Amino acid sequence: MEETNKSLLDDSFTSAMTLTNSGVPQVPDRYVLPPSQRPALGSSLGTTETTLPVIDLSLLNQPLLRSRAIHEISMACKEFGFFQVRNHGIPSSVVKDAFDAATQFFDLPVEEKMLLVSANVHEPVRYGTSLNHSTDRVHYWRDFIKHYSHPLSKWINMWPSNPPCYKDKVGKYAEATHVLHKQLIEAISESLGLEKNYLQEEIEGGSQVMAVNCYPACPEPEIALGMPPHSDFSSLTILLQSSQGLQIMDCNKNWVCVPYIEGALIVQLGDQVEVMSNGIYKSVIHRVTVNKDVKRLSFASLHSLPLHKKISPAPKLVNANNTPAYGEFSFNDFLDYISSNDFIQERFIDTIKKSSS
Ligand code: OGA
Ligand code: NI
Repeated sequence: MEETNKSLLDDSFTSAMTLTNSGVPQVPDRYVLPPSQRPALGSSLGTTETTLPVIDLSLLNQPLLRSRAIHEISMACKEFGFFQVRNHGIPSSVVKDAFDAATQFFDLPVEEKMLLVSANVHEPVRYGTSLNHSTDRVHYWRDFIKHYSHPLSKWINMWPSNPPCYKDKVGKYAEATHVLHKQLIEAISESLGLEKNYLQEEIEGGSQVMAVNCYPACPEPEIALGMPPHSDFSSLTILLQSSQGLQIMDCNKNWVCVPYIEGALIVQLGDQVEVMSNGIYKSVIHRVTVNKDVKRLSFASLHSLPLHKKISPAPKLVNANNTPAYGEFSFNDFLDYISSNDFIQERFIDTIKKSSS
């Protein structure tokens, strides 16, 4: 059992790893979802067999094929706000090293991880469990370490010092995702008919939050979730998963399981792109299911404009027929919102929609 030195710990904090390692036969009551929010695992009820888009990103670098890739991206963004990418340029060794460092981090004794615990969502480096252990009404079967990651040199010294390889291995993956996200934002801007470099400056100085998530094996995956339905505040999120578990909501409000594809990465549109595109693209609502036998790790890299930079609908996408459907917002506005509201009850993006839309 992980929890060896109780005196060091805040009694209200118990990680999902601690529960799994102690062999609990059932989830504690705080994890039990109301029946309408349970994931209906193993039944076809509420989930559908839909083929989700997978795009070969190497086409973007081939002058004759780039427009085909842009078209595929546009279709995927319109229909799902989601796609997977192959040939994305991040070497498999970098991915493997990142998983390795994350595994070692979550396997550390709980006292070591508690050095970084915080319930303050404005904290640039934060270990935690569920969404926010101090305020969640229902708890989620997830532990996480989140850290600001761009520019790397500004933040990396605050990252975990244990395991000793963490900074180097996760740092390499964070840098590689930043490069990839620039290519993706260019392609997404192009797919909307905007200049390829529409957001270039903001992206160079933009923020990146890397959420490293650990979903340990859960004794009752039918009545709990790893993360509740939500959309990300980011422009886009690049997600790396070690096994299946993510579900996205399609336009008919059905949950669709995202297949695990070896070597692929997942791209999810966030609220900033929904606002920038004036609603032509929507951020994808997603949730995480848990598994009875398998521990799942994921890296969600949330890329956004700088902390205080407001995003608003692109002027080129607004006209007499398409008036701005959203007010502006910054990453910091989102953090303020989630520190004082229950964002499961009302999505942040719904609070900035103009009522005429
Ligand atoms: C997130 C998220 C999904 C996953 O961290 O915002 O949605 O599969 N993660 O871990
Ligand atoms: Ni998310």
